[in-house]
Amino acid sequence: MIGSARYTERLGQIPTPFYFYDMELLRATLDAVSTEAGRYGYKVHYALKANFNERIVTEMKRYGLGADCVSGGEVRRAIDCGIPASDVVFAGVAKTDQEIILGLDEGIFSFNCESREELEVINALAAQRGKIADIALRINPDVDAMTHQHITTGKADSKFGISYQEIDQVIARLGELKNLNIVGIHFHIGSQITHMEPFEALCERANALQDWFEGQGINLRHINVGGGLGIDYIDPSANPIPDFATYFAVFHNRLKVRPGQTVHFELGRSLVGQCGELLTRVLYNKVTSTGLRIALVDAGFPDLIRPALYGASHRIENLTSATEQRKSYMVAGPICESSDIFARGLELPETRRGDLLRLMSAGAYGRAMASNYNLRPFPAEIFSDEL
Ligand code: LLP
Repeated sequence: MIGSARYTERLGQIPTPFYFYDMELLRATLDAVSTEAGRYGYKVHYALKANFNERIVTEMKRYGLGADCVSGGEVRRAIDCGIPASDVVFAGVAKTDQEIILGLDEGIFSFNCESREELEVINALAAQRGKIADIALRINPDVDAMTHQHITTGKADSKFGISYQEIDQVIARLGELKNLNIVGIHFHIGSQITHMEPFEALCERANALQDWFEGQGINLRHINVGGGLGIDYIDPSANPIPDFATYFAVFHNRLKVRPGQTVHFELGRSLVGQCGELLTRVLYNKVTSTGLRIALVDAGFPDLIRPALYGASHRIENLTSATEQRKSYMVAGPICESSDIFARGLELPETRRGDLLRLMSAGAYGRAMASNYNLRPFPAEIFSDEL
């Protein structure tokens, strides 16, 4: 049993909506990822964008994970939570000068650079400070992650990374940028990837690219293959911990690693997705003239935007239903927009006002993407070990 179900009684006293984190499951997930990555000496950086809560980030630190950050705020948060700057990678397709300066001053592990112009800027800012910046080139591998188009990042026409066509010019120019030290290459093909084929294709691209770099006389110390491993949104209780063993084995079997080289990963969703849920109460029930049954709840898309933004579906369960009798529901939030819908045609035990519902798999990109829209306060974050 995962998540809130076994805490229902105590959670019933907390005002809704709120996020609930099962810390036991988080730790079991981090145990699993550490064991499986540890088999091959792989270094995992936690992608803070999935969930930047201090307790969560501190837990990552306790497990010795590094951080993958995409803003100055995330770099600060990672370091404040005790993750050494030397374990921080800083990605982001458009870093500001202030963010770059923060990374330089903190002495982060590497900047993942995404354009020729960015290299010039980092070089200039590093020169002003008399520093050498360690950088990795984010290459657009033109691999289709076969996931939702909004979270596909590695295809040729995406805004991310340096294109194949540009690499030789970039390398030629790098020779002149004396305040940059190229330490690696970086890829990230997308998110919520549940088949291994895109990762296999990524390994093939990375191998070819490494050969090319070697041909140019450049030895790379690190290969960073990004994140993207998906989770089971349909049946989270059956698969609370992603299959890290199969995932890392793909890289072990396919990626050609040179002696002394380290392989880095940037995992977000797969580490925190399943340990978090959004708890909400049914405020009202109604039936439309067309016979559509609607349960109106006190959480909305400002608290969990994935269904509205990506058409994503999160499993919903009624924790306090008094009956087994099931009916088909639309579950909708309080926001004055028709996209504020969590589910359509969902079979649920008949709901009553006050019933407590759980929206599962909300630990990643839940609170992190939340907004104050309609001047609604952010829901509280409750941790199982503080109950
Ligand atoms: N590294 C880079 C460069 C990334 O852009 C991302 C995610 C990650 C690592 C972590 O990916 P993960 O392991 O979490 O898949 N808001 C969307 C997901 C956006 C992902 C953006 N980049 C969602 O809710 O599905």
